[in-house]
Amino acid sequence: MNQNQKRSSLFRKKPIATGDNESNILKRVLGPLDLMTLGVGAIIGTGIFVLTGVAAATYAGPGLVLSFLLAGIICAFAALCYSEFASSVPASGSAYTYSYTAFGEVIAWILGWDLILEYGFASAAVASGWSGYFQTLLSGFGLQLPHALTSAFSPEKGTYFDITAAMITLIITFLLTRGVKEAARANGIMVAIKIIVVLIFIGVGVFYVQPDNWQPFLPFGISGVTAGAATVFFAYIGFDAVSTAAEEVKRPQRDLPIGIIASLAICTVLYIVVSLILTGIVPYHMLNVSDPVAFAFEFVQLKGLSWIVSLGAITGITTVLLVMMYGQTRLLYSMSRDGLLSPVFSKVSGKSQTPATGTWVAGIIVALFSGFISLGHLAELTNIGTLFAFAVVSLGIIVLRKNNPELKRGFRVPLVPLIPILSAVGCMYLMTRLAALTWITFFGWLIIGLIIYFAYGRHHSHLNPARRISDTFKTTKGK
Ligand code: ALA
Repeated sequence: MNQNQKRSSLFRKKPIATGDNESNILKRVLGPLDLMTLGVGAIIGTGIFVLTGVAAATYAGPGLVLSFLLAGIICAFAALCYSEFASSVPASGSAYTYSYTAFGEVIAWILGWDLILEYGFASAAVASGWSGYFQTLLSGFGLQLPHALTSAFSPEKGTYFDITAAMITLIITFLLTRGVKEAARANGIMVAIKIIVVLIFIGVGVFYVQPDNWQPFLPFGISGVTAGAATVFFAYIGFDAVSTAAEEVKRPQRDLPIGIIASLAICTVLYIVVSLILTGIVPYHMLNVSDPVAFAFEFVQLKGLSWIVSLGAITGITTVLLVMMYGQTRLLYSMSRDGLLSPVFSKVSGKSQTPATGTWVAGIIVALFSGFISLGHLAELTNIGTLFAFAVVSLGIIVLRKNNPELKRGFRVPLVPLIPILSAVGCMYLMTRLAALTWITFFGWLIIGLIIYFAYGRHHSHLNPARRISDTFKTTKGK
């Protein structure tokens, strides 16, 4: 194949060491602690504060702890793979950028498009969980929104739009356009509050555990545990968002793996303990509520603490929203900079040096999703998109090792190819545990993505030789 044929190939690859850094204009301001905060900020949220309830009540029972363990192990394998990629391809855009170097353009596009789904739906799901806790808090003050505006579109229930979910999304969008350091600072305070609240839940809750509540331990059998794992997997999503910040990190090759692995480890330990205590305080079949963690304290008559947990949950979920939406804008930034999406997403402007217009476009779309679509559906879509991305990234490690053995890696996955394979197989297994409707929507999304790629991205890609010639022509004419 000659050079031009290679470049017009669907599998044209982005060179690893060039390109990104040359055109990097985002400021490098983040250190390892910022990244860990970003990670924990992205991880602990709607998953543990909201989805645990439904997972315990309908799938896993007290065996919820095993669901968390299973999902945590799969995520740990994936996190190792993400860390190696992040330490060898430290560019904005996370899995999308990795697969551009490992697999070539069309796979990168599919993955990027898939990640838009992950971050977009995750943000919308998280906003929806936020709205549930916020409305409970409002009703504690005797305040009630008009019923039609309290939840997602569901005419049979008389609800049309979740106004508070859309509102918080737009507020976070505004904060992100103010600049990454400012957003990271606000995030740091909120993450601290969230961890304190989780520790209070553990420290106080442990004294209210009734071991009888753990019997029967597996009311729905092992298949309940695995279905529960596919749901609570949502609770772990977010460590991958750390790698989207690569171009704003001072020493990415060392700090990204630290940020990714440490934040996942902290959250896994907290989740295992919280799920044990939660199912130990409340009989599992009573946990199907929109605020299970606060409900557990209410159940044992600790009203004041329940209120504090609600407030902490709202704060905690806000940080997830912040990081997810941040990840979304940086992903769009990378795809746009490569020419695969409209330039509007990579136009950096203002004193804050952020892609403000792109941030607003993404923010408004997410606000609409969060207003119209239900939490359950949003969470499942997020999970399928993320599991797919994790599987591709894991396999990407094997390809990168084979094709670029000499590449400088700040971190190396042990036992390759075993760990990447275990990670990919684990992710694909969890995908099979999700609903048929989720699969259909997912495929629909990927097909729309491919149409956009062939109609726009393929021609506008910076790797497209025809585009390079026309750019050169324009430049020469302009002189
Ligand atoms: N892991 C994040 C959450 O649970 C997405 O909210």
